[in-house]
Amino acid sequence: MSTVTWDKELIEKYNINGPRYTSYPTALMLSEQFSESRIEAALKNSGDELCLYLHLPFCHKLCYYCGCNKVITRHQHKADKYLDYLAREMAMYQPMVKDKKIRQIHLGGGTPTFLTEQQLTRLMKRVHQHFTFADNPEVSIEIDPRSCSDEKLRHLRELGFNRVSYGVQDFDKKVQIAINRVQDIELIAHQLKLSKELGFESINLDLIYGLPYQRPETFKKSIQQVIEMAPDRISVFSYAHLPQRFAGQKKIPEESIPQPSVKLHLLEQAITQLSEAGYQFIGMDHFAKKDDSLAVAQREGRLQRNFQGYTTDGQDVLLGLGVSSISQVNGVLWQHEKELPAYYKMIDSGQKPIIKSMALNDEDKLRAALISQIICHFEIDTEAFKAQWNIDDFWVHFDAAIPLLKPFIEDGLVNTSNGKLRVTDLGRLWVRSICACFDEYLNHGQKRYSKVV
Ligand SMILES: C[S@@+](CC[C@H](N)C(=O)[O-])C[C@H]1O[C@@H](n2cnc3c(N)ncnc32)[C@H](O)[C@@H]1O
Ligand code: SF4
Repeated sequence: MSTVTWDKELIEKYNINGPRYTSYPTALMLSEQFSESRIEAALKNSGDELCLYLHLPFCHKLCYYCGCNKVITRHQHKADKYLDYLAREMAMYQPMVKDKKIRQIHLGGGTPTFLTEQQLTRLMKRVHQHFTFADNPEVSIEIDPRSCSDEKLRHLRELGFNRVSYGVQDFDKKVQIAINRVQDIELIAHQLKLSKELGFESINLDLIYGLPYQRPETFKKSIQQVIEMAPDRISVFSYAHLPQRFAGQKKIPEESIPQPSVKLHLLEQAITQLSEAGYQFIGMDHFAKKDDSLAVAQREGRLQRNFQGYTTDGQDVLLGLGVSSISQVNGVLWQHEKELPAYYKMIDSGQKPIIKSMALNDEDKLRAALISQIICHFEIDTEAFKAQWNIDDFWVHFDAAIPLLKPFIEDGLVNTSNGKLRVTDLGRLWVRSICACFDEYLNHGQKRYSKVV
């Protein structure tokens, strides 16, 4: 797939607030009025296999930029209590999933490596007690390099983990100090090398562009250092600055945050550097080596998207466990309680900690398929889609999108000739805004979403 081309005027025109479409409808559409039996039926009637996401919320120290659901604490025993409740939650879901096999499991957070080796063992023991794994499952974990020793990494491998994702963000010291996350490049280089030696099959690094004091020269150097470490995948997230939602971000002085034009230059530079180094630009914020399963899945038209972003698997078969996790199985979405005390209270009262849900109707499913195809593959065959979804005419069905797409077409970001809707190279950066044209629920310009770039 070719790379992105640039135009600064378009950047100013299309850099709106918009969803990342890790699901459609987005999590904001979930309702407090829902039926638990519908969720249970969705799980029971799903296929033979499921993917599992476990949320581990604890971190030792606050990174000021953080937009994740986390609990900052020095008290290790808090994780023991959490693991008890997580096991009780697994037991609650078990009756619906006991015949299914788990083909992917991902530990995210917060910081899963906040857990000690002993706690990690205990957690995985519980997982194996309650779930059956498929052959050769993908078992992955998010690692904060500062909370992972060589011994812990070895231990993870022994527990069956075969994929790791490291939080890096930036190597520049001035940026690291401003975000309250100082970590040496040597530590990360060492852990990456050891991960390779230990036989982890896939290694990902997370970076963020748009952080305080980032400049094109310094970020270029950080990207170069990442390239030298040669991870299989690289995420370059756009810094989502929403201080009203994430109080820690108020500690970042507004004037230290790069202006939109600088921020875009950082992304432009990263895309150019990573493409030249042989990484495939998957889309939005993901890059992968050409032989990585993500890049292969995209080339073969099998790429998917779920709450973890681009993925080879797990769309509509993802069961999330733990505080704040979101699930999507068989056309039903549901979210767990976000705050720990309330999460504990619900489990104590014998309830699954579900606070919101939504069942997709036929129109939602059709639009979800369309948005997924555009965001993953940047092209859709309108005739084939029409036949697959049994609609009379593609553009009659999506007539409300026509005026919204018009400026994108006029500016050369979208092309609608020869029975296809194609996001052009120039439009790939704006794929979130293009998908939004087909979003029936979106109040355009909603402030609760972060900027598209
Ligand atoms: C749960 S953390 C990864 C694991 C571990 N807690 C760590 O930080 O190393 C997930 C990732 O989300 C990204 N992230 C967090 N807050 C963000 C924000 N406000 N904007 C963009 N990306 C963000 C960071 O790249 C981070 O590595
Ligand atoms: S970025 Fe990671 S380590 Fe930092 S506060 Fe957020 S979840 Fe915790």
